[in-house]
Amino acid sequence: MDILVTGGAGYIGSHTVVALIEAGHTPYIVDNYSNSSPAVLDAIRKITGVSVPAFKFDVQDESKLNRLFSRVSFDAVIHFAGLKAVAESVERPLEYYDNNLQSAIVLLRTMRKHYVNRIVFSSSATVYGPKNPVPFTEGMDTCATNPYGWTKVMIEQIIRDVCVAIPDMSAVMLRYFNPVGAHPSGLIGENPNGIPNNLVPYIQKVATGDLPHLNVTGTDYDTPDGTGVRDYLHVVDLAQAHVKAVDYTLGKTGSVEINVGTGKGESVLNMLHAYERACGKTLPYVAAPRRAGDIAECFADTRKAKELLGWEAKLGVDDMCRDSWRFVSQN
Ligand code: NAD
Ligand code: WQD
Repeated sequence: MDILVTGGAGYIGSHTVVALIEAGHTPYIVDNYSNSSPAVLDAIRKITGVSVPAFKFDVQDESKLNRLFSRVSFDAVIHFAGLKAVAESVERPLEYYDNNLQSAIVLLRTMRKHYVNRIVFSSSATVYGPKNPVPFTEGMDTCATNPYGWTKVMIEQIIRDVCVAIPDMSAVMLRYFNPVGAHPSGLIGENPNGIPNNLVPYIQKVATGDLPHLNVTGTDYDTPDGTGVRDYLHVVDLAQAHVKAVDYTLGKTGSVEINVGTGKGESVLNMLHAYERACGKTLPYVAAPRRAGDIAECFADTRKAKELLGWEAKLGVDDMCRDSWRFVSQN
């Protein structure tokens, strides 16, 4: 199938493009490279042997998007494009609401105009908010504690409403938990510029010596070792979930939310020690205050992904850390 991948040069998008090619699909990338680089296209070609058609423009540019939809008859769309940094969204809410909501609206309007009726959307476990009990299940109420999270809650609602208004629309909204790791080739992965907000990219920079130690934000949570517990998921497993989700939309109508996680929680210290095993170094850390808005535990109920998509995570934290370290060491 011909599949449009918005944000396909990004961390999760690039891994999904590789998985789509390996599954026999033909992906096309639209990306404005606001948080990625065209260099990823060379890496994808080295991994797959395929030069993916890539178009550099903002998904909000409706005339360019329409022109592309007039040239290629897409069978489905996977929508990754968006801004995703929680702290940044608090400082710059309008940029997040504008970019994320407008991109989704323009994309959905263009899909409708060209009778493209199948979409997989990048949602997030952040939509479960701070009050739901773990493990999170898809029927729980959603809310957010930051503008980024609200954009995910809102876009989910927009997609649900569009699927009600347009009976032949089919949408899968994948709620990712904590994607980490890199492709085993070491050619694609996540290596954010500056000081990372997220745990594993931060540990990566401690392991390379770019940062002196990890600040463990919160050591007094009601968890086995007092540090935050999260559902870390290998990005290669996550990419496979998208291939399954695209296949699922075929012959279906309506919208469905599906958790994508391992269903297992790992603490900050467990992840740090897993990374020590991967890099063969002792990684220093200091106890630091909790981050505002952080919850103690977050992990998925994964039954729906298994039942509807026939998908479950196969890789564990040692695979995630080994593949992350290989990528960082090679780049
Ligand atoms: P990323 O920043 O690596 O990838 C996003 C890509 O979209 C980038 O290449 C960026 O250049 C592009 N982009 C952003 N706005 C665009 C626009 N208006 N037009 C065209 N391209 C645009 O992020 P990621 O980690 O790969 O996340 C992909 C999606 O998954 C995002 O929607 C994110 O919110 C969601 N998500 C990520 C995580 C995570 O922890 N990484 C967790 C849950 C959900
Ligand atoms: C994980 C754990 C921290 C950094 C975020 C977004 C969420 C989603 C995934 C987009 C927590 C602790 C972290 C550090 C630390 N992204 N930590 N030191 O907060 O679960 O989720 O990324 O959708 O929306 O909120 O991930 O990696 O930031 O934190 O101790 O330097 O690591 O307190 O317990 P989080 P994270």
